[in-house]
Amino acid sequence: MSSTLRTEGLSKRFGDFHALDGVTMQLPRGARHAVIGPNGAGKTTLINLLTGTVRATAGEVYIGSERVTSLRPEQRVRRGLVRTFQINSLFPELTVLESVLLATCQRTGAALDAWRGLDARAQEFQAARATLRLLKLEGVADVRTRDLAYGEQRLLEIALALACRPRILLLDEPAAGVPRRESVALFEAIAGLPGDLTVLFIEHDMDLVFRFAQRITVLVGGAILTEGTPQEIAGDARVKQIYLGRAA
Ligand SMILES: Nc1ncnc2c1ncn2[C@@H]1O[C@H](COP(=O)(O)OP(=O)(O)OP(=O)(O)O)[C@@H](O)[C@H]1O
Ligand SMILES: [Mg+2]
Repeated sequence: MSSTLRTEGLSKRFGDFHALDGVTMQLPRGARHAVIGPNGAGKTTLINLLTGTVRATAGEVYIGSERVTSLRPEQRVRRGLVRTFQINSLFPELTVLESVLLATCQRTGAALDAWRGLDARAQEFQAARATLRLLKLEGVADVRTRDLAYGEQRLLEIALALACRPRILLLDEPAAGVPRRESVALFEAIAGLPGDLTVLFIEHDMDLVFRFAQRITVLVGGAILTEGTPQEIAGDARVKQIYLGRAA
């Protein structure tokens, strides 16, 4: 199966410290792939190397068949590789719809082209509404982002990422700080994203991981300990040992 996102021997050293060490993985189109591992295992470093905010010491990153290892983050975004950012502090006064509209216009350039007129804007408006529907945020479309519940803020961050029309979406602990009752709804929304969108997520809550991931990579000390289906990972003695007392 052809992959949308692939790494080969991806590595990052900080001085003598190997934060990521020879990580080779590939995600087919439409994957719902979790990366798990103890604190400091290198999960966030992996995402930073994928997006290009941190430069790899060795190894390669491919989007489709294109090698993107030396491309800047914004060049990777243009190729469809997008991560979420915590935006609630950026647009506190904007409503949910305004925020997504702004992000949509940024992609299409509509905000810069006043001369294109209202007809063109109507398209962005529809696209923004569709994104809100997808994430079940229509009910809070007119709420200011600062007044959203935590789970809704995280959903809005995903909505803003989707406004970039990604092929691959990277989520670093999307449910961090979100109360339990909201985190399941959050992951249900992620599970319901378009089937051709490839999703890579980092998550500490094993219930959520085993419920929503199709495949799981276990990182320990910067290297891949093992990779497999949730069933395979749940049955792996080494993984059990690492997570004993942690998996609820
Ligand atoms: N800029 C940096 N300089 C030096 N060391 C770093 C840097 N960034 C990360 N590290 C180290 O690399 C290791 C991996 O960090 P990383 O943030 O990738 O872990 P993680 O798996 O995301 O952990 P967590 O579950 O706590 O989020 C850690 O030991 C961290 O201290
Ligand atoms: Mg991390």
